[in-house]
Amino acid sequence: MNRTPIASDTESSKKKPFCVGMDLGTFKTSVIASNGNRAVAQSIVGFPKDHIARAALGRDVLFGSEVLDKRLSLDYVRPFQNGGLKYLDPAEAGVSGELVDLHKDAARLLINHVVSLVAPPKDTPVFGVIGVPSRASIKNKRFIIEAASQAFDAVIVVAEPFAVAYGMNLLVDALVVDIGAGTTDLCPMYGSYPTDEDQMTVPVGGSHVDEEFIRLMKEAYPNIPLSLRMAQQIKEKHGFVGEALEQVCVPLRVGGLPQQVDVTAPLQAACKILVEPVIEAIKSLIGDFDPEFQTSLLGNILLCGGSSQIQGFEKVIRKALEPYGACEVTRSNDCMFAVAAGALRLGMNMPQDHWNELLGKESDQKTNTPSAGVRIRAAA
Ligand SMILES: Nc1ncnc2c1ncn2[C@@H]1O[C@H](COP(=O)(O)OP(=O)(O)OP(=O)(O)O)[C@@H](O)[C@H]1O
Ligand SMILES: [Mg+2]
Repeated sequence: MNRTPIASDTESSKKKPFCVGMDLGTFKTSVIASNGNRAVAQSIVGFPKDHIARAALGRDVLFGSEVLDKRLSLDYVRPFQNGGLKYLDPAEAGVSGELVDLHKDAARLLINHVVSLVAPPKDTPVFGVIGVPSRASIKNKRFIIEAASQAFDAVIVVAEPFAVAYGMNLLVDALVVDIGAGTTDLCPMYGSYPTDEDQMTVPVGGSHVDEEFIRLMKEAYPNIPLSLRMAQQIKEKHGFVGEALEQVCVPLRVGGLPQQVDVTAPLQAACKILVEPVIEAIKSLIGDFDPEFQTSLLGNILLCGGSSQIQGFEKVIRKALEPYGACEVTRSNDCMFAVAAGALRLGMNMPQDHWNELLGKESDQKTNTPSAGVRIRAAA
């Protein structure tokens, strides 16, 4: 999708802008727009393998779960990994320039696709606020802003957990812990826009649990094949941390024949790999925070992100933090859209002048991401 050029700042500022909040995640990309539309797609992009596949599918590009359904006819990429674009630079990543470009194109196409799902009007400026991991590199933020420039007339990026807190009006005395697929992001809220140094990104998330679950299953049951998708589905339905309250038996094929298989131990061990890094990160962030405010952070720890839905997570965190004093851990009840909803709210509350300023400074916003942070701070 190409945005229609905007005639001039003055003309565009007369129109009520259309705002989109986006959670651009490793696993899924979700959007909510100011017209109330919302959409989500897995962050995966597929291209027909050959002209036969192209003719059969009738399209040049597919997104989300459709890619997984039609994967035998497709070359597909997940453009994001560990909270950023998988490959940004051929030399750094040690891969070909072609592969890097493919991932960049896939990211652009994915952003355009999800924005098109919320039906932005053609003759109105479209403003986007995109949630990115707390400690996403400047290079990554720059790329995301550039990649989103076809879909939006002006765009800012904001730390994902900050967006969640903003959306829930938790601007003071709270610690947001976003346990996603590629990373876990922590952000303390104390009444103003948190600095990069206040926040933490730990490179663990649900994808690592899936990999570990597959590895442990192979060890326990070498004859039972388990695909990544199956591992994910089992984890999402039965994943737990802490004590096993009951056996987890799932139907799997053994030598082609369906059979109930006990996956309790490998599933428990796989989910456990998240626990220690997340707890250590919380302890470290709280420990480094101004001592006068440590108690208030402990009193309001909010878990969000898809992997926070692993059963028992709140309980194990609460237990691990017992020695630190009274502590309250809750979980967001909208893991899919919490970042997008907060990002939208931020965008809609941002003074029109700030947006217009960004419209007038297109080249700036492409090269100077931290300046977007300054503008967000003013809006918050
Ligand atoms: N009910 C569930 N129980 C456990 N895990 C779940 C559940 N639902 C989703 N997940 C896992 O949550 C992860 C996706 O979380 P989320 O949607 O927050 O990721 P993301 O925002 O795309 O990732 P990131 O923020 O790391 O880039 C996946 O690993 C998914 O398997
Ligand atoms: Mg996320």
